[in-house]
Amino acid sequence: MAAHQAAQAREFEGRVALVTGAGSGIGLATARLLAERGAQVVAADRAPAAAAPGPGAGSATGSGALHAVRLDVTEGPRVRAVVAETERRFGRIDVLVNAAGILRPGTVAELADEDWADTLDVNATGVMRVSRAVAPGMAARRSGAIVTVGSDAAGLARTGMAAYAAAKAAAVAFTRCLGLELARHGVRCNIVSPGATDTPLQRRLWTSPEAAAQAVAGDPARYRGPIPLGRLADPADVAEAIAFLASDRARHVALHELRVDGGATLHR
Ligand SMILES: NC(=O)c1ccc[n+]([C@@H]2O[C@H](COP(=O)([O-])OP(=O)(O)OC[C@H]3O[C@@H](n4cnc5c(N)ncnc54)[C@H](O)[C@@H]3O)[C@@H](O)[C@H]2O)c1
Repeated sequence: MAAHQAAQAREFEGRVALVTGAGSGIGLATARLLAERGAQVVAADRAPAAAAPGPGAGSATGSGALHAVRLDVTEGPRVRAVVAETERRFGRIDVLVNAAGILRPGTVAELADEDWADTLDVNATGVMRVSRAVAPGMAARRSGAIVTVGSDAAGLARTGMAAYAAAKAAAVAFTRCLGLELARHGVRCNIVSPGATDTPLQRRLWTSPEAAAQAVAGDPARYRGPIPLGRLADPADVAEAIAFLASDRARHVALHELRVDGGATLHR
């Protein structure tokens, strides 16, 4: 292993990370990667049973460890309690990854008021709740990195995804504004916006055996373009980009939106 690879393999040693949505998909891949690279990772999810290591002492992964906790990002007092408990137990939070998200597909005509409200509550207000609870500690220590998982849908018009796209656009704008306020305190805020990624959230959209291939090839009837790289992302592809932005390798990167979409957005 080259020296720089060895350094990367341990780049989160001694660091503490809080990852929301860590029970599945992109959040789970990110939590595992940060732990493999040395972090103590609090893997928070409203359904933490899926996060593999049960609550308690945590399970070793590489040189770090995963510690699963139950957290619903729509519950303000619980968010504050989990952040306070993490800071008490581990001394600080160096990295926050906002990966919790839901997708309720449906045209605007079909969308129930509660689908709109729930989508905004989890995907946008949830990001605000957790980030606002974590930020003061980072600012006081003049160090920290926040990475919000956006979506290519935030910047593209999509049929059947108005609530999701609006919520993701809000999360992206919020994270950039927060990043501006925190930059002077030595805290970096960035966004990773995935395109179609092979996770349970994506698979729930697949209504036919051809759906996965169609997601790659594009679907003119739904105004969806193809993915130029010709494949869906793996959660690990997205986790790698998140880890980069959370690491010191990105020490001069702030307020940036990194798309991991195989080129699907085409421009910008
Ligand atoms: N999969 C894709 O194609 C894709 C594309 C772009 C963006 N994203 C975004 O990536 C992120 C991760 O999605 P994924 O594809 O891994 O989905 P996923 O469904 O596999 O994982 C999402 C996780 O978030 C958790 N969660 C949902 N609501 C929560 C809440 N209120 N509080 C705490 N946890 C909650 C779920 O329990 C689940 O474990 C989401 O923000 C999603 O919007 C996914």
